[in-house]
Amino acid sequence: MYPTQRPRRLRGSETMRALVRETHLSVDQFIYPVFVRPGKGRRDPIGSMPGIYQWSIDSLVDHLVDVYALGVRSYLLFGIPHQKDDVGSEAYDENGIVQDALRALRERLPESILIADLCLCEYTSHGHCGLLDPEGHVANDPTVALLARTAVAQARAGASVVAPSDMMDGRVGAIREALDRDGYSDVPIMSYAAKYASGFYGPFREAAENTPSFGDRKSYQMDITNRREALKEVQLDLSEGADMIIVKPALPYLDILREVRNETLVPIAAYQVSGEYAMIKAAATNGWIEERRVVEESLIAIRRAGADMIVTYFAPQMARWLGEDS
Ligand code: PBG
Repeated sequence: MYPTQRPRRLRGSETMRALVRETHLSVDQFIYPVFVRPGKGRRDPIGSMPGIYQWSIDSLVDHLVDVYALGVRSYLLFGIPHQKDDVGSEAYDENGIVQDALRALRERLPESILIADLCLCEYTSHGHCGLLDPEGHVANDPTVALLARTAVAQARAGASVVAPSDMMDGRVGAIREALDRDGYSDVPIMSYAAKYASGFYGPFREAAENTPSFGDRKSYQMDITNRREALKEVQLDLSEGADMIIVKPALPYLDILREVRNETLVPIAAYQVSGEYAMIKAAATNGWIEERRVVEESLIAIRRAGADMIVTYFAPQMARWLGEDS
């Protein structure tokens, strides 16, 4: 450093700080996850996620029209089906809950980005992300075939993007092939490439009603101790045709995010998951932290680590806060 060069000189006023700021938050970067359930006029609160609801399709459409007006225009859809069974049929049924929701949303918000979460766990009676063999283990290859079928049903119903979150091997390639074969070669795949077997998904299991009835997801989700494995998963998904990558959870895995950013050229999303949301909400409700400050700090940290996009339950609230500033 030159003897007279002092970093403090660039921190003297808010205008100067704004001029040299490296990281920015904008509503364009947010993806808002939503839960859709059967019924009419429903807006059922999720106890462990204050401010987040299971919506019936009609209420969800009205809600997202409001959120769209705030500037948040990308949504990640999860479904709570009418009925669950061993093979998760409602995931790929033409009239499954998510397919019905996609058609309704596509009609009211034609320009929105509708990202369909692609997994069987919300639709299987046992709550696992795939079909089970007679010993109760998830059977990779038969599951992949059903995921490909689900992707086509979602694309046909109006999904802009499909987002496989199951972590089966070879699913991205199979989904790409099925989409191309049925005329949906323009629908991108956003793959949850680095998805850890995390305790931070706890509140989501209540929200999506997908708690496994036995065992856990450690045979298909990643071991929390592994770093190189994440890079390998990302490489595999990219080689099979993934267009975008998700790292999940976000804040406890910023190192992974940074590394994936350094090693790849595709757009990366980080998923600030239900447990991250619930912790901030709980502490803020108790007056132990300042909610806006901590939400913003977390989102900035995620962007600073290399995320282009952030999947966050705070999207509408953050959009409101950003709107108040401008
Ligand atoms: C599985 C899936 C999970 C989440 C999204 N999709 C996790 C799981 O139950 O293993 C978690 C998201 C969150 O916690 O917010 N399809």
